[in-house]
Amino acid sequence: MRKFAAALAAAATLYSFAAGAQAYPERTITVVVPFSAGGPTDTVTRLVAEAMSKDLGQQIIVENVGGAGGTLGAGRVAQADPDGYSLLLHHIGMATSATLYRKLAYDTLNSFEYVGLVTEVPMTIVGRKDLEPTDLKGLVDYAKANKDTVTVANAGIGAASHLCGMLFMSAIGTPLVTVPYKGTGPAMTDLLGGQVDIMCDQSTNTTKQIQGGTIKAYAVTSAERLDVLPDVPTTTEAGLPEVQVGIWHGLYAPKGTPAEVTERLSKSLQVALKDPNVVARFAELGTKPSSEADATPAALKARLEGEIARWKPIIEAAGQYAD
Ligand code: MLT
Repeated sequence: MRKFAAALAAAATLYSFAAGAQAYPERTITVVVPFSAGGPTDTVTRLVAEAMSKDLGQQIIVENVGGAGGTLGAGRVAQADPDGYSLLLHHIGMATSATLYRKLAYDTLNSFEYVGLVTEVPMTIVGRKDLEPTDLKGLVDYAKANKDTVTVANAGIGAASHLCGMLFMSAIGTPLVTVPYKGTGPAMTDLLGGQVDIMCDQSTNTTKQIQGGTIKAYAVTSAERLDVLPDVPTTTEAGLPEVQVGIWHGLYAPKGTPAEVTERLSKSLQVALKDPNVVARFAELGTKPSSEADATPAALKARLEGEIARWKPIIEAAGQYAD
């Protein structure tokens, strides 16, 4: 009799779980952005969250948890309940932090479930409006001549801006003074105010400023020029082919989130990435949504694994680690 009761209880639990997963989502979902509000990761997330909310019929709120190059926010979601109501939208930093940080509050490949890739954003090497150099070669010469005073803003070790800055400094063979922020939103404020000299930041945060002439643009890190910034050369054209990087973004859930939930989220992400407003806004900011095939758990898993392996030797050669 006891065995039957136990089996019945287990079946009831399984049913309620499955029913819960089928009814998902039943309440507000939180997506953590591991950087300050107003930066590129925040911009991408809010556009996608708005479109996913429409598809899912539930409110999605964005919570900014900045610090330590995105690893604080990632750690927050790694510890969250795996019920589908806490998500993380993070970028290439998920892969680079696995090497940069010798102690992380999570296991990059075992603390998350995958939903899908979201977008891949080019970076732009930019400077404050009154910075002397007018082209990338001039900037390199200026940086070498003033290496103890030129300041490079980034969003902390593990950020995309940190990675691109590291590639730039490695390419020119000159370490520069770095100024970390909790996101390149606040870093942009200081660049506009002239408190910091240069930054390598995502086009989703710099395109409007460059078009408005409020900051200087030296190059884009993509293989081709951007339609929205046709006069800005690629780093390869401008003589720094080593500085080529695309900032891919992925949507994650805590390990243990049911597959039915991550699959439902992946389907919603695919719908959101075709939303006309998302497509148009991404295009205005120099990027485009990931394809339907890439907005899947398998594609994100493969990208993260491949990128950890790709960046490990590059980071080790640069010798930049977080203590
Ligand atoms: C980065 O540098 O990783 C991002 O631009 C930070 C941010 O989104 O604020």
